[in-house]
Order: sequence, then structure tokens, then C-alpha cells
Amino acid sequence: KKALVIAIDGPAAAGKGTLARRLAAALGLPYLDTGLLYRAVGRRMIDAGLDPATHPADDQARGIRLADLERDDLRVPEVDRAASLVAAQQAVRAILVDTQRNFAIAGGGVLDGRDIGTVIFPDATVKLFVTASTQARARRRWEQMAPDLEAPDRAARIAEVAAQLQARDDADASRAVAPLRAADDAVWIDTDDMTADEVLDEALRIVRQRT
Ligand code: C5P
Repeated sequence: KKALVIAIDGPAAAGKGTLARRLAAALGLPYLDTGLLYRAVGRRMIDAGLDPATHPADDQARGIRLADLERDDLRVPEVDRAASLVAAQQAVRAILVDTQRNFAIAGGGVLDGRDIGTVIFPDATVKLFVTASTQARARRRWEQMAPDLEAPDRAARIAEVAAQLQARDDADASRAVAPLRAADDAVWIDTDDMTADEVLDEALRIVRQRT
């Protein structure tokens, strides 16, 4: 019997991680946030004082182990940018392929990222492409980072986050290797007007249809 692999792709902060974690728990599958692999490589470049825009990150990528994804300094703005830059390097992506495939090849799993349905698991049982408007994604991301809903500069801060998300999505979608895009057979979920519970229910419905 083929292992149940669920591929979840989409732009930054669209709700992929929340969905993937909950879906994995509901189905009893392991979950891998593949963005953390690129973040861990980007983090190592910063720590080594190397510019991820110009310096090859092969050595940093080769040393990455799943335990490195536990670091608590991977979700900061400088690492957002460094991750996206190292992720555009073909050699880095090639080095990280096996880690991702081996994670789910025997027992299945839920993986979220940008190229899971297109490159890592083109034969995944279920492929979801999770999106939301830039505005909705920026508002959610800002609320996670700074839950002060009364801040007087709230609108300006959210606009700043929106610009950063948009710049990273543009870079991820326009790069030559494994660009962010939906697989032809992916099912789209637009999470703008949906709660996390509704997104989970919709995903479970799609999984049941295909298994
Ligand atoms: O998902 P997250 O925002 O943590 O990903 C950080 C960066 O890693 C993305 O902006 C993207 O450049 C890269 N990435 C990728 N392929 C994946 C997952 C993430 O290129 N499968």
C-alpha cells in the first residue's frame, strides 16, 4: 500500500503551517515544515557572516539535520530573507531533497512548503494549494508577531508586513529553480474568509475524497 503523502504549498503566511499541523494530528501522520530547512541554512549563513545573496550555501545545507529545525531563532525577519535567498540556489535545493523524501517515503506524512507537490512529491496522494490575499496574510502575521490590536500605528505596520511578504512571494515565484506554483492537480483553498477550523474541515473532506 502506498504511503499517504499530503503536499501543502502556497505563499508565505497563508495558513499552510496551521493547516498542516492540524491535518497531521487528525490523520496520525508526521509533519515536516520544509521552510524550516531553508531557514536553518539561512541562519547558518548569517551566523557565519556570509551573504546568502552571493555566497554558495552548499556547505551549510549539507550539514542540516532535523534536530537543527528546533532552533528558536529561525522565524525572524532577517532569516525570512536569507532563507528565500538560499532557496534560490539550485545546489542547496538538491542537497535538501533526500531529507524531505526520506521523511515521508515509508510511513507517509504531511509536508508544507513551495515545491512539495511539484518537485518533492509529484505523486503525493493529495496536493493542496493554500492561498489568501496579501492583506489577510499580513494582518494574521502581524497579529502573531505583535498581538497589540490597539497600536496606533497598526495599519502602517501591517502595510509594512504586506510589502515584505509580497517581496518574498515575488522572489519565490520568479526564481528559476522550483518556483512557488500550484501543481496542475492541486486543489486550491483560499483561506481569506475561513477560520482555521473551516480550513481543516475542507482539507479533511478533500483527503477523504482521494483515499
Ligand atoms: O515557509 P517559510 O516562509 O518558512 O519558508 C521560508 C522560505 O524558504 C520561503 O520564502 C522560500 O524561499 C523557501 N522555501 C522553499 N521551498 C519550500 C519551503 C520554503 O523554497 N518547500
